[in-house]
Amino acid sequence: MQRLRLELKAETDRSYDVLVGRGILNDLHREIKGIGNFSSYGLITDDFVKTLVAEQLQANLSSHNIHSELLSFPPGESAKNMGIVLQLCEQLIARGFDRKSLLIAVGGGVVGDVAGFAAAIYMRGIPYIQVPTTLLAQVDSSIGGKTGVDLPTGKNLLGAFHQPLLVVSDPDVLVSLPVETRREGFAETIKAALIADAELFSLLEEERACLLENDNEVLETIIAKAAEVKCRVVSHDEHESGLRRILNFGHTLGHAVEAASQYKLTHGESVAAGMGVAIRFSQEWAGLDRDEADRALKLIRGLGLPTELPQDIHSESLLSALENDKKIHGNICHFVLISQIGKAVVQPITVGELQRKLEEESTS
Ligand SMILES: NC(=O)c1ccc[n+]([C@@H]2O[C@H](COP(=O)([O-])OP(=O)(O)OC[C@H]3O[C@@H](n4cnc5c(N)ncnc54)[C@H](O)[C@@H]3O)[C@@H](O)[C@H]2O)c1
Ligand SMILES: [Zn+2]
Repeated sequence: MQRLRLELKAETDRSYDVLVGRGILNDLHREIKGIGNFSSYGLITDDFVKTLVAEQLQANLSSHNIHSELLSFPPGESAKNMGIVLQLCEQLIARGFDRKSLLIAVGGGVVGDVAGFAAAIYMRGIPYIQVPTTLLAQVDSSIGGKTGVDLPTGKNLLGAFHQPLLVVSDPDVLVSLPVETRREGFAETIKAALIADAELFSLLEEERACLLENDNEVLETIIAKAAEVKCRVVSHDEHESGLRRILNFGHTLGHAVEAASQYKLTHGESVAAGMGVAIRFSQEWAGLDRDEADRALKLIRGLGLPTELPQDIHSESLLSALENDKKIHGNICHFVLISQIGKAVVQPITVGELQRKLEEESTS
């Protein structure tokens, strides 16, 4: 088991542990008792993870005298809305949850975002912990305290920064993940390696075959390293005023690709294509050498993800998606690029240059 620490410089008493280890969920009761005493406990999950993980976890906690209520909502992004948050809050009121209650988010990124947001606003904020059950959630979304829900007009438009008290990631729960959901996590893991950890990148290259075969021992090391990158970045910039922007590598264009494909492409595929473009841009604008670019593109493809823009998505629709997403300010778009594997730089690019490069991308 690896115990990482997310240090929040501004107020060290809000710093918290991020634990990664196989079988660690069996000890969740001990970790919870270690962070404090609570008046009641609420396991928040989705209907799918409920039967898969949360019911067993509830029984295990109960056998150690932590009695909890189990609340769930339908799985998938469509549940990430204010209606679900209100329902949850009503259920918490009905069950007598107060400011000393603890919420435990058990699930993927959707559950983490919804439960975290409910915790952020219920009675002006109550404590919660994250028990992520998808690879994406273990390497990325459970760490850093960004919580929120979607509006019909766009994703993640309502939200709050609310740090958890603890994050507990058990790679053994990932065995049931379908390969497409696993790939979503690969995309974010590659992102972490490219922006901040050359060693993690080499490990991903070496262990590519084991990853595709769900080798959990290897996965534990990789999740811990990717989680460490996220902890390091958030610890320097909790509210995304500077360094945290590097986590948007592949995402600036990735979100535009997702929107332009009308969400037919998954987030992971869109981000992978966005990283592919950003890697090629990095050769021109950030001095990334050819060999490193080729290695990066090879790894993305080797983990089953695309590195090219879809043929039916043209530069105009990407530029207008970037405009709609407020990514262009006064003719300039800030792109996260890499000057070498493991080193991110933020580069201002004019719309004219961007258009020229995107046209090259769609005709190559
Ligand atoms: N807060 C952040 O910093 C942050 C960062 C990145 C992404 N996100 C958000 O995360 C969400 C995506 O997260 P996600 O990909 O985990 O999606 P998700 O939570 O919808 O999970 C994907 C599917 O996998 C199922 N699932 C969960 N655990 C499983 C398991 N162990 N075995 C089998 N199936 C399992 C879920 O029921 C769901 O159907 C998006 O809403 C995104 O905006 C948030
Ligand atoms: Zn992402």
